[in-house]
Amino acid sequence: MPQADHKTEHLSGDAGGIARAADLLRSGQLVAFPTETVYGLGANARDGKAVARIFAAKNRPAFNPLIVHVANLSQAETLAEFPVAAQQLAAAFWPGPLTLVLPQRDHSGLSPLVSAGLRTVALRMPAGDIAQALLTKAQIPIAAPSANPSGKISPTSANHVLAGLNGRIEAVLDGGNCTVGLESTIIGFDPTPTLLRAGGLPTEAIEACLGQPLARAPNTPTPSAPGQLHSHYAPHAPLRLNVTDPHPAERLLGFGTVTADLNLSPAGDLTEAAANLFGYLHKLDQAGAAPIAVSPIPDHGLGRAINDRLRRAAAPRP
Ligand code: TXA
Ligand code: MG
Repeated sequence: MPQADHKTEHLSGDAGGIARAADLLRSGQLVAFPTETVYGLGANARDGKAVARIFAAKNRPAFNPLIVHVANLSQAETLAEFPVAAQQLAAAFWPGPLTLVLPQRDHSGLSPLVSAGLRTVALRMPAGDIAQALLTKAQIPIAAPSANPSGKISPTSANHVLAGLNGRIEAVLDGGNCTVGLESTIIGFDPTPTLLRAGGLPTEAIEACLGQPLARAPNTPTPSAPGQLHSHYAPHAPLRLNVTDPHPAERLLGFGTVTADLNLSPAGDLTEAAANLFGYLHKLDQAGAAPIAVSPIPDHGLGRAINDRLRRAAAPRP
């Protein structure tokens, strides 16, 4: 991560700036970029470390699932399955301020951190010449929440982005002011089309396209909100936290200089640990039912989000 005295590059939205932004994203760096809704804080969605740095840069206490931005429909179809209603909506409204939560393909290649361990993925094809040109040039799916510190207002200009994140990200690509300025509308299919978040595309337009009313999610859209533990990945094996002295029957998910079955970060790097967390829990789960012990994780920075997720994973199952 850049130091506080390391300035964020302010790239102009011309061919040179777009090419530079694409190179930075491809090499695992963080680049804020304009979309028609708000500026997104982008990272290569296949690179778990880069995705983990999004949470660190935003100072997010929990791993909310992120929206993955794609250049075109064929790229989207390599990442997720499209039910018929989703095909209709994509045909009618992409590119545009509409996000579709879809069943993720097994070989999507996305970091599990992108979806916070869920089996779905939220996809969006943004409108706007610069976003389109960037995604086409980069040729990778780009995970991006709004480019603001957690708890602050979403940015609709490059200067908003710099006001919140200068020195914490490698670059911002300047595309002037966002035309929509409100985050995308999010629709899920479980299996009926359901409004998960109201946003930049009016629900009336969506309902007219589908020829049926949208279901309304009984709870709000954030699957990571307290009380919605069921929607998060939890291993089948029991999980014991803050363990320094594992039982012989337990498998150790380690952190730092310990001998472990899998080690989140032998170097004790929380960014690396965050990037590995969901993937390693999946691996341990697939490898058997023996209980899992987890080393203590420092409760600061990304460690708070890691501990939040581990507590959810260890919580009693309904
Ligand atoms: O307009 C936008 O959507 C902007 C621009 C940058 O594209 N992005 C944005 O991202 O607003 P973000 O991170 O603020 O919103 C992500 C939200 C999550 O909080 C959650 O509500 C929903 O999308 N989400 C993402 N993945 C999901 C999933 N797999 N299942 C259910 N909801 C999901
Ligand atoms: Mg946001």
